[in-house]
Order: sequence, then C-alpha cells, then structure tokens
Amino acid sequence: VTKRLDEYRPFPFELETVHLDFRLDPKRTEVRARMAFIPKQPAASLHLDGEELELVSVAIDGRNLLRDEYRVSVTGLTIHAASLPEQPFTIETVVRIVPEANTALEGLYMSNGMYCTQCEAEGFRKITYYPDRPDVMAKFHVTIAGDAPVLLSNGDLVTQKPGYAEWSDPWPKPAYLFALVAGDLVAHSGTFTTMSGREVALNIWVRKGDEDRCDFALEALKRSMKWDEEVYGREYDLDIFNIVAVDDFNMGAMENKGLNIFNSKWVLASPETATDADYERIEGIIAHEYFHNWTGNRITCRDWFQLCLKEGLTVYRDQCFTRDTRLGPVKRIDDVIMLRARQFREDRGPLAHPPRPDHYKEINNFYTATVYEKGAEIVGMLRTLVGEEGYRAALDLYFERHDGQACTIEDWLKVFEDSSGRNLSQFKRWYTDAGTPVLRVSDTYHDGVYTLRFEQVTQPTPGQAQKPPRHIPITVGLLTPDGREHAPSQVLEMTEATQDFTFENLPQKPVASILRGFSAPVSLERNVAPDELAFLLAHDTDPFNRWEAGRQLAQDALVEMAQGKPAQPDYAVALGKLIADESAEPAFRALCLQLPSEDGIAQTLHDRGITPDPDAIHAAREALATGLAQTHQTALGDIYDAMAVPGPYSPDPRPAGQRALRLAAAGLLNRIDGGQRAQTLFESATNMTESLGALSLLVQAGIDDGALSAFRERWKADRLVMDKWFITQLAACPPEIAVERAEELSDDPLFTWKTPNRFRALMAGLSANHAGFHRKDGAGYRFYADWLIRLDPVNPQVAARMSTAFETWKRYDAERQALMRSELERISASDGLSRDLSEMTTRLLA
Ligand code: ARG
Ligand code: ZN
Repeated sequence: VTKRLDEYRPFPFELETVHLDFRLDPKRTEVRARMAFIPKQPAASLHLDGEELELVSVAIDGRNLLRDEYRVSVTGLTIHAASLPEQPFTIETVVRIVPEANTALEGLYMSNGMYCTQCEAEGFRKITYYPDRPDVMAKFHVTIAGDAPVLLSNGDLVTQKPGYAEWSDPWPKPAYLFALVAGDLVAHSGTFTTMSGREVALNIWVRKGDEDRCDFALEALKRSMKWDEEVYGREYDLDIFNIVAVDDFNMGAMENKGLNIFNSKWVLASPETATDADYERIEGIIAHEYFHNWTGNRITCRDWFQLCLKEGLTVYRDQCFTRDTRLGPVKRIDDVIMLRARQFREDRGPLAHPPRPDHYKEINNFYTATVYEKGAEIVGMLRTLVGEEGYRAALDLYFERHDGQACTIEDWLKVFEDSSGRNLSQFKRWYTDAGTPVLRVSDTYHDGVYTLRFEQVTQPTPGQAQKPPRHIPITVGLLTPDGREHAPSQVLEMTEATQDFTFENLPQKPVASILRGFSAPVSLERNVAPDELAFLLAHDTDPFNRWEAGRQLAQDALVEMAQGKPAQPDYAVALGKLIADESAEPAFRALCLQLPSEDGIAQTLHDRGITPDPDAIHAAREALATGLAQTHQTALGDIYDAMAVPGPYSPDPRPAGQRALRLAAAGLLNRIDGGQRAQTLFESATNMTESLGALSLLVQAGIDDGALSAFRERWKADRLVMDKWFITQLAACPPEIAVERAEELSDDPLFTWKTPNRFRALMAGLSANHAGFHRKDGAGYRFYADWLIRLDPVNPQVAARMSTAFETWKRYDAERQALMRSELERISASDGLSRDLSEMTTRLLA
C-alpha cells in the first residue's frame, strides 16, 4: 500500500505512559506492555501496529479480552470500539518474539551474542503491539530481566541488580526512539558538566577488547555537547548518556533517547586501524546523533513525510560543527563533493523525490541523500536569507514554541516567517519539489554597468512535470582584473525564471565569482573562458569557488578527452600555480589535486547530451592523471617529500591535511614511478591512513599481490579493517579485473555476507569501480543483482538501499541500458520479493 501525506489523521487516543517488561531469551523473548490511553474521540476502534509477533494475551483494565473483541492481522491488533471504555483505560498485552531469528536487524535482534534494537522508522512494531507513529509520544518505563551483565534502556537508571534492571525516561517520546541493549559489554566512561552545572555520566559501551578504541569518540561527544550549548544554547537533559557500538547494523547510527546505538565502524578508532577520514566521520556522526537530542527527540516529526525536518536540520548542525572545529572551507568542499555525487545523481534519475516526499510504500527507502543532504542545504539557504542573527532568533523560537511536539515542515517555516517577517511561500518549493535547478548565467558590461542575467530551469522528475521557479540565494563577489575584491560578497535573491542583477560604477569589467560557498544546491552553467577559470583558481578570495574553478577546468578537460579529443594544457598549467602555492592549506591543495570521479564525469557528459562510455572515461581520467604527473613531476615529488608528517600520529586536521596532500601527490606520481613510492610507503606506514592509501595505489598499479595478502594476514581478525580490505581492492583495481575479483572475494571465507558492513564493502567496492561495474558484457550487473536477490529475504533494508547502484541506468548506451533493465526485471520477478526492494525496482524501472 502507498501512504500519502494528505491522508494524515491524528491518533484518536492519547497515550501518556507505557510500561514495558522484557524477559530476554534469544529464542523466546517475552514482552509485556502496559499502556494508559485517554480517548480523544468517542467510539473509534483502536489499532495497534504489530508485525511478526506471537500474541499471548491482551487485557483491558485487567480483564482478558475474548477472541471476538479484537482482530489480529499481519499489520497489527485492532480492538473493536465496543470493547473500549469511554474513560481512560489501560491495555496490557503479552507477546513473544525471537531475537536470534531476526536477520533484518529491525526491532530486537542479536549481534555477536548481544541484544540490541533498531526501531526507526517502524521497527518498534516488531517488538510489541503499539501505536508506532512519531506523533504518539509517551513516557517509557522499562524493566529488563536477562542473564547479560549489562542491561540498558533509555532515560535514567532506577534500579539494577544481577539479572535485572529498571529504566525510566522522563521525556515523552515516540516509539522509534526506544532502545534496549543487553550483553557482555565494557564501558569507556567520562563525565560532562552542562552549562547549568548538571553532571552527566558518559559511557561508550563496547565488546571486550575494543575499550582502547573509544577515547576519540568520547572526546568528540564532549566537544559536541559543548558546541550545542555555545552555538544553539541547548543543554543535555538526563543524568546519563550511553552510546553502544554494534557490529551488525543497517545504518550508521541511531539517536535513541539517552542510548545512542552506533555501527561500531563509526565509534571505534585507533591510529593503526582507522584512517583520517574515519576519524572525521566518527566525530561528525557522534555529533549528529547527539544533536538529535534537541532536533529530533525533544522536537520530533509528526509523520515520516517530515523526516527531513529532523534529518536535514541535524545534518546541517553536524556540518557546521565540523566546519567550526576543523578546516571550514575544506569541510564545505567535501560536503559539496558528496552532495553532487549522491544527491545530484539521485535527483537526475528515476528515484528523484522531494526532500519532503508526499507518498511512499516503505519509509526506509527514503533515508536518502535528498532527505539528509539536500535537507541540510535548505537549512543553509534559510540561514543565508535571514542572516546570522535571524537564524539564531528563528531557532530560539523553534525550540521555545515546539519543545515536546511532533512537527511539520510548515511549523518549521512558520518559525522563520514569524521571526524574520519574511514570506517563505515560494521558498517552500525547495521542500516540496524534486530536481536540481539548472542555473544559467550570462553577463554584459557597458559604461560602468555590469549585468548578470540568471535563468533557472528544473527538468521534470517522476510525478512532477511542472517546475515553477524557486527562490534561490546566490552569493556573488566581483573581482577586479588584478585580483582584488570590488565589494564584499552579496546575496542576490532570485525568484523569477529569468532575472537580471546590475552593478554600477565599475571602471572595468569585473570577473564574477558566482555561487560562493555553494550558496544553493543548483547546477551552475556558465560559459567561462579557461583563462578566467585559471584567474579564479589563482585569485578568488572565496575558497569554495577557488576550488570550483579548478574543478571546472578538470571537468572540461575530461569531457573533451572522454570523446577522444586531445588534452588541452589549461588545467595542467593552472594547477601548477596552485601546487606551488605554499600559503594554501595542504588539505585544500589535496582537494584541488583530486580529479572528478568517473561517475561524476559520466554525469557531466550526460548533462551535456553525450552518452557516457565508461571505458573511455576511465582512459581519459588515467591519461589526465598521467599528464599531470609528467608535467609536474618535480613539484609533486617535492610535495611528497615535504608533506611527510613526523612524530606520533594525530588525527587533527592539519597533519591529516598533510597526509592527504602527500597521498594525492603519490597518487598522481604512481602513474609514472612504477609504484615505487607506494611500495615504500606501504612498508613503512605506521597508521591506517598511509597503509590503506598506499595499498590502494598498489592495487591501482596492478602490483598488489604481496601487499594484499600481507594486509589480509595482519588484519584478518579485525572486522573493521577487513571491510576496508574488501572495498579498497575492488574500488581501485583495473576495471578489466573488477568483476572476477569480486567473484573471488565473494568466495573468501571472510565474506560474511549477512553482516551489513561486509556486504556493503564488497558491493560498494564493485559499484565504485565505474568501468568495472559497467563492463560491456553485463557481468558486473549480473553479479550485483545475484547478490541483491540473495540478500533480500535476509535483510530487505540493506538490499533495497544497495539497489541504488542501478539508479543511473538510463544514462548509458542502449546495450548497457538493456542489460541493466533486464537485471532489474529479474530482481523484481524474484519470489517473495520484499516490500523494500520491490518498491525500489518499481521506481527504478518506471
Ligand atoms: N535517525 C538515524 C540517523 O540519521 C538513521 C536511522 C535510520 N534507520 C533506518 N532503518 N531507516 O542518525
Ligand atoms: Zn539523523
């Protein structure tokens, strides 16, 4: 069934408190639930969601219901109106569930002998019968009986004795924020004193043996708590904050109230096992889940259509946290690279949907780059429009007005309207309309007057043919021909389909720097001469646009080369100046040396009306890299030597930036030095960043035999490092051998495919190898589809998510399209296909 936004109806009862008693057993866990309901409307029947539960009993106010007083279906338990008292009443149910049989990892399941839960979005209904919707908020009181040494749930600990624990959460919450963990765990602990002087106990719970990899996450948590106090005035609201690391987890992490559960990949870190990028990600995800305590938990969503209300805002908050604590401009560039790679790609294909969708079959399919990352961009645009102070005023009002409520995007926008006095009705289209606007720019200069003309067009997306113009904040700066700023950046507000903006009293034609800081998630199209781009790469004071100019040059060169035209020297020449610019941050220079991905080049070709040829793209990118290495051999060699970081490892942004630049230089030189630097680095590396970076280069050069087996031998017992071994060799290997290698790896005894991280490592490794995945004979597609079909009955959520590898299928030539289509059809015809994967294949094929 399709659920629709306009079919929302409030729940006809109020639910004040719920008591849950768990008797844990892997084969037969008993859950007793007592729920105190207050009727809001007379004579409505009461539906409680429930799936895959064995109902033992149901009673109202202590009286067991007879079999004809209720109905049990595959979606839940309905109590007929005639059996419902008109006064407040209590329902008590007893159900049984089987945690060890739960391979979908939704609800209560087991991971390495430990019990854990994942309830967002609709997993709580696999634990007990309940109104499993975010607008029903209740106070939870939980008891747990079980033989595990550590028994955890949300809120504050009431009592604890061997085999038993009692937890009480004073804050009303929806069921999706419920969590329970039980296992043989050890804590890495600390404390945090909040701004009002409350001392909070902090614990990171992990399996024995992992406790020495928790310190970074704990410190990141403390820094997040402080940042939210300083920047948003938000304080933590319980006496205890627990984080648990779990090996089997469908997503990254989950913000359950007072008991965050994390994929262990995003908690555990040591210099030997985690890369610089992992450290940064861990810090960002710790912050993200912590920030949800206010944006998500205290203020939650009315229904799942509003998911981006909490996710877009919380991603925006974690991005700002990282910008503030690391290198701001570098973080912004990283975020935009990610946005384009994932969200722009999604927006151009059959899965395009608005940040606030208006219908779905399976909500888990909407935890997307559009909801998360585009959702964050929209918050950033709002801030640009109302300004720094206006933004803080709006957020203060949001917390004041909506604390304790389940809200909508309308509520959110109203807060900005009320606090700023602006009308945001046109701006709202960013939430309701899918698709990335294309923004075309042209300019003229006459008698001291400079005019920028903008034209916006958004292509139709599935179900949305008409795309009225949006309200777009365009940050623009004007540079003099000798590289100075005419005037500080200003924000132009575009609201029409075509609009001119003029600048007067300019003695010379300026060079415009448009969309500074990437002020709106649009695709900018502009005919700029290579020398103007080179000028911007050298002189723009906006670091984002400086990088963007170089990216544009690279993109233009690659588009030409992928069509068999010779390389133009513009990019190599312009880049030479940047390579030599020692005043720029190493991390920034590293980003400038990073070439666009092959998937990104395919996208650009398609945007320009050219059918991408994966093999030609691969060859073009290799040729460009080789050319850069040859042209700048000496300078790159000097960088490689100068960027060696002496002394003990630190994950701080500066040394990490040096390592990134060093690896970027090695990556280019790898094409001409016979893999010699990579070999030396691999043998001498003392941290995972260098070790994995070097391994990837050896794989790319095809001289990896010894290195791969040495790495495997050293790390075979470490699940997180072995995930890297799987993904790296597939992503980096020559495309001709990618599918065979994926087949071999899928026979490796370490390919424990039911573990989501390992499954993803192999599949994402293959699909990241663009030309390998898109092999002309379709072997990549077939292998990939075989595994989706195999995983689907075990873990539909992960299978559905991984099917997005096919979302670009319409970009390619007719042969490849036919091959991909037939794999999608084969998947959709498989027996017993899950709702998750069937919704995905239907949308992909539409
Ligand atoms: N709310 C979590 C986060 O963004 C994501 C959980 C999504 N889980 C799911 N099964 N869809 O931090
Ligand atoms: Zn989130």
